[in-house]
Parts: sequence; structure tokens; C-alpha cells
Amino acid sequence: MEQINIYSGKKAISRIVTSADFRDLASCLEPYPNIYAIIDAKVAQKCPALKQVADVLRRRGAKMMEVEAAEETKTLETVMGICGWLLENGADRDALLLAVGGGITTDMVGFAASIYKRGVRFAYIPTTLLSQVDAAIGGKTGVNFQKYKNILGVIRQPSFTYICPQVLESLPQRDFLSGVAEMLKTFIIEDGGNYQKAADLFFDISSEYHVEVMMYGKDGQAVWTDLLKKHRKTLNQLIAAAARVKAGVVSRDQFEKDERRKLNLGHTFAHAIETLAQKDGGERFETKGVTHGEAVAMGMVLAAKLADRYYRKDRNEPTELEGRLSSDLWDCNIPCFCPYTIQEMAQTMKKDKKAEGDKIHFVLPKAIGEVETVALTVEEVCRMMA
Ligand SMILES: NC(=O)c1ccc[n+]([C@@H]2O[C@H](COP(=O)([O-])OP(=O)(O)OC[C@H]3O[C@@H](n4cnc5c(N)ncnc54)[C@H](O)[C@@H]3O)[C@@H](O)[C@H]2O)c1
Repeated sequence: MEQINIYSGKKAISRIVTSADFRDLASCLEPYPNIYAIIDAKVAQKCPALKQVADVLRRRGAKMMEVEAAEETKTLETVMGICGWLLENGADRDALLLAVGGGITTDMVGFAASIYKRGVRFAYIPTTLLSQVDAAIGGKTGVNFQKYKNILGVIRQPSFTYICPQVLESLPQRDFLSGVAEMLKTFIIEDGGNYQKAADLFFDISSEYHVEVMMYGKDGQAVWTDLLKKHRKTLNQLIAAAARVKAGVVSRDQFEKDERRKLNLGHTFAHAIETLAQKDGGERFETKGVTHGEAVAMGMVLAAKLADRYYRKDRNEPTELEGRLSSDLWDCNIPCFCPYTIQEMAQTMKKDKKAEGDKIHFVLPKAIGEVETVALTVEEVCRMMA
């Protein structure tokens, strides 16, 4: 078990526990007399590793409710449903809300905990790679509203986040790869040798998967699960490394005044892509929709192109970085070609919640491990990317 703290000044305000199993969960929950667990229904059904969690919760007399985790249900209505359930079950100011699920569940439960009785404590057991390396760390909570992603929310830190990669073994491959995109994003921001290590690992996993499934016709999910088990050690190291990077950035700038903006690499484009896909039913994608991580992958490639145009205005061919990112993502089997033009994305980008006046802070990757934040208008971006 490793513990990583998030600090406000010198004070630890949230802790992240990374562990190969759930042996330490009972002690993490010990200080909380009344536990209300809100669990993604699909995880409750599909994830064998969750049995250990359920046993601990039952022993502690926790009350449990299931929610459906989808972008369409990541709404105020679902949050109100959680609050109603808390009221019915007598949840008081000493309640701990425990979210068990991916980023959708943790975002909604963190938000419900922040408004219920003016704020109760909450903690997370993230069950997707994306939530283990990103969504469940740093305290951003919220819901979608009027087709805009995460437009209602607050920043408030969970008491703890318990990361156990074992739960990922039941995660569908596509959702897993969505998390790989966020992990690569983290290492583009702060490398420490992990970017290449991650790109190599997921290239190997994807290649082995293709051989087993395409050549030998084996069952896809079973092969995927076995490959995650086989590469467990490196995967666990990379998850902990990504969590450390995010915890460090959040400790230095919890409320996104400055350095934390870097974590939005690719996200202004990604949110526009997700919003447009929701509006048109995802018809431009072969998969008839796009996951958050896939949109981030597309957004990172667009950010690399923007960086190219911004720093080297006279060049037109793709830079080494844009090419490297696309080919690494492609090799990991993550779609990274954006089907919308920059003009199509422009209106949506203007509504980005990070906009200040008519400028948005775009994060521009200069190299692996080196990014810079630059305030630009959407018109300037459209001109450069045309
Ligand atoms: N708060 C933040 O800082 C932050 C950062 C990044 C992303 N996000 C948000 O996170 C969300 C995406 O998160 P996500 O990719 O984790 O999505 P998710 O919560 O929807 O999970 C993806 C899918 O996997 C299923 N699932 C989850 N865990 C599983 C498991 N162990 N086994 C089997 N199935 C499982 C879910 O039911 C769902 O169908 C987006 O809404 C995004 O806006 C928030």
C-alpha cells in the first residue's frame, strides 16, 4: 500500500491510497460512523473484485444504493435522487458518502455530498482506469446540464480515494483505453520517463490482444482480462505514478488559478467533440458515439497541431509531436481522428467553462513532459487551425 497526500499549503486535505487489494479499506472507513455507498449498478453486477468491498460495507452496516452511470444520467435529477435517498435513510451531517464506480459516479456523488445538508464528507473507490488516474483525484465534482459537460459543479476534496487496480479486470476494453488516453495526457504534462513506458505497455497489450483474438479467435473480454493480469505489476506502477503527478499539481494549485490548467490538455476540444456527438447522436463515429477518453485523445492531437501553428507559424506539415502522439494512440488502439472541423467546434468551444471573457486557456504541448498554457480567442484558434 502506498499513500499519496493532496495538500493545501502544509495541510494534507485528501489522501490517495493505492493498493493491490482491498485489505486496507476497513481501516480507511474506520473513522466514519455512518456510511452511505452509492454504487454504479454495472460495477455491482460485473466486477468480481467488488465482493471484497461489499463484505467490508456489510460488516460496517453501510446503506447501499445503485445508480446508472451514463453521460445522459449524469444530471441534477440523479443527484436529487441520491439526496432523496439520503434523506429517506436519515443521513446526517456525520454521513460519509462513498462512491464506487467510474468518473460519472464519482463526479455525481462528490457533487451530491457537496450540497446535501450544506456539505457532508465523501470518499471514492474508482473502478475505471480513467477515474483512478484522473477523475477521482483533485476534487472536481459535477453534472452535465443542457448538453454542456460538467457545467454545474464545485471543487471539494474527497476524504480519501482508494485505488485498487484489481477492479479494472472487468472493465470493457473500450472503457479501459479511454483511461489510457488520460494516463498518457498526464505523462505528456509531467513525464519522468513514464510516457514511453505507458505507450510501450499498451502497445504490447493491444498487439497481444489482436494476435489472440484475430488470429486464434479467442473471446475478447477474457483475453483482455488475462492480459491485464499478466501486466499487472507495470500497470499498477503507472497508475500510482499518474496519481502522484495529479496529486502534485492539485496540491500546488487546487482551484485552477494557474498550474492546474495544464491538466486540461486537449479538453477544450474534447468537450466540444463530446457536446457535438451528443447533439448529432454520435453519427460521425464508427462506434456511433465517443467516450470521454477518446475525445481527449482527439483533443490532444488537435492541441499538438495548434501548438505547431502557434509556435512555428510558417510550417504546415504535421510536427514530430503531432505525428508521435497520433501514432502512439493509434498503436494502443485509441481512435484519435476528430470527425468535426474546427469551425463546427467553434460555437461550443466559446461556451467552455474555462473561458474568461473571450479568451480560453489552451494547453499547448511543446514536447513530451513540457506544456504551456496560452490564452487565445476561438477566432484566433480557428484562423491558426484552418
Ligand atoms: N472530476 C474530474 O476531475 C474528471 C476528470 C476526468 C473525467 N471526468 C469525468 O469522468 C467521466 C468519465 O469517467 P469514466 O470513463 O470512468 O466513465 P464511467 O463512469 O461512465 O465508466 C465507464 C463505463 O464502465 C462501466 N464500469 C465502470 N467500472 C467498471 C468495472 N470495474 N467493470 C465493468 N464495468 C465498469 C460503467 O458502468 C460505464 O458503463 C466523464 O463524465 C468525465 O467528465 C471527471
